[in-house]
Amino acid sequence: MQWTINGLVREAKVDFRTSLLDLLREQFQLSGTKKGCNQGACGACTVLVDGERINACLALAVQYQGREITTVEGLAEHGKLHPVQAAFVEHDGFQCGYCTPGQLCSAVGMIGELERDLPSAVTVDLAAGQIEWQRDELRERMSGNLCRCGAYNGIADAIAAVLA
Ligand code: FES
Repeated sequence: MQWTINGLVREAKVDFRTSLLDLLREQFQLSGTKKGCNQGACGACTVLVDGERINACLALAVQYQGREITTVEGLAEHGKLHPVQAAFVEHDGFQCGYCTPGQLCSAVGMIGELERDLPSAVTVDLAAGQIEWQRDELRERMSGNLCRCGAYNGIADAIAAVLA
């Protein structure tokens, strides 16, 4: 079986019950994607499939052959952080860091959703009054990604900075 992950075609033989999360971590040693709850509740395992964010713990690996899978290891390009990664660093969008790969992939996917679904939210003027609305919207859209350290303000600040 074959998967395209971070632009590379990778092969493995796996049981049809293997989750995409276990494929990434155990077959391909892409351990940036974290296993938290392993039941779709925490978002630590978030990856992108054709640009859409999914919980890899709930996905069967065999169903994602032929799709473009992106993990946190694939966000940076040519030695340069993805703009969302750079914004997380600048705005302290993490504390212990365990949830950060999932938060990053989710944020990248969410920004893509905003660009498709809500063009006005992307171009919103961040001046007076719009900031809180946008933070609420961003927090709601990131609510599938839990952070036990409570770095939510920094995460929202980082995403808002990317969108500004
Ligand atoms: Fe997949 Fe928690 S490990 S949602």
